[in-house]
Amino acid sequence: MFEQKLRPRRMRISEGVRSMVRETSLSVKDFVYPLFVVPGTHVAEEIPSMPDCYHLSVDNAVEIARKIYALGIPAVEVFGLPEYKDEIGSSAWDMKSPVQQAIAAIKKAVPGLVIVGDVCLCQYTSHGHCGKLCGEYVDNDATLPLLQKVAVSQAEAGADIIAPSDMMDGRVAAIREALDEKKLLNVSIMSYAVKYASGYYGPFRDAANSAPQFGDRRGYQMDPANAHEAMKEVALDIAEGADIIMVKPALAYLDIVRQVRDRIDHPVAVYNVSGEYAMVKAAAKNGWIDEKRIVLETLTSMKRAGADIIITYHAIDAAEWLQG
Ligand code: PBG
Ligand code: ZN
Repeated sequence: MFEQKLRPRRMRISEGVRSMVRETSLSVKDFVYPLFVVPGTHVAEEIPSMPDCYHLSVDNAVEIARKIYALGIPAVEVFGLPEYKDEIGSSAWDMKSPVQQAIAAIKKAVPGLVIVGDVCLCQYTSHGHCGKLCGEYVDNDATLPLLQKVAVSQAEAGADIIAPSDMMDGRVAAIREALDEKKLLNVSIMSYAVKYASGYYGPFRDAANSAPQFGDRRGYQMDPANAHEAMKEVALDIAEGADIIMVKPALAYLDIVRQVRDRIDHPVAVYNVSGEYAMVKAAAKNGWIDEKRIVLETLTSMKRAGADIIITYHAIDAAEWLQG
């Protein structure tokens, strides 16, 4: 008879032993919760494509922010739906717009909560592209001054971290320069350095009313087939002064997260995007999967791949589950 000597199962024999040898841990401190703010007051409307996520007016966004902070989640990322749209997206830097108002109100009510401002123009432009158009082409260099205005307006409203998601070349350097010029020296930049042109953003674009009115975003977001190019984007954004590097989406790109983590010494963030969220919620609703188990397993996989920060719509549920 074969004599079995090597028994990895010994390290799985009980929860006590498993907990001693567990390599990856998931914590509420890893999470950033995205908020969608809209004009008006007393608005809390569930987003159809994203069950359990809401369009919130500023007053309700503040209430959710209190709850998030009480749960121990360190940060929120603020997205907005503006009152008006135009060719250049000027409501994106309007201090009276929902994002700037929400940032200021949350900072005042919950000063310990870290506020991340998403900087892009697609929610604010009439054409739904992430920058200024020249014909049908998104003009990179003409977009940079607009992004500078958005970043400064959010930082002046009270954002701690500016997160540009537009994918224009040179925007990290441009934003850093604009912040420094206003002496906003301690406002950091979390760059969506590696952002793929992904089908997984579908539910978000419904939620944020930000789908492009013609064409798509392949002329500025990355080709899903490319990994070397991701490393190039990361190197450029670090050289331009990014403080945190993000990879987005998360699940289909965990190989990229690992490669980035192994190459750089900056914190790495992943964005567990709307399509990833919607698929889990839909399957859970049908009783096809165990939502809690799937969510915690999925978020753990992002940590295991090397992420330090996870932006996720599951943050509130996961925080409650992690508490026991
Ligand atoms: C705006 C932006 C998008 C997301 C975050 N910021 C959509 C897009 O690029 O089309 C996607 C977030 C998600 O899907 O959860 N540029
Ligand atoms: Zn955009």
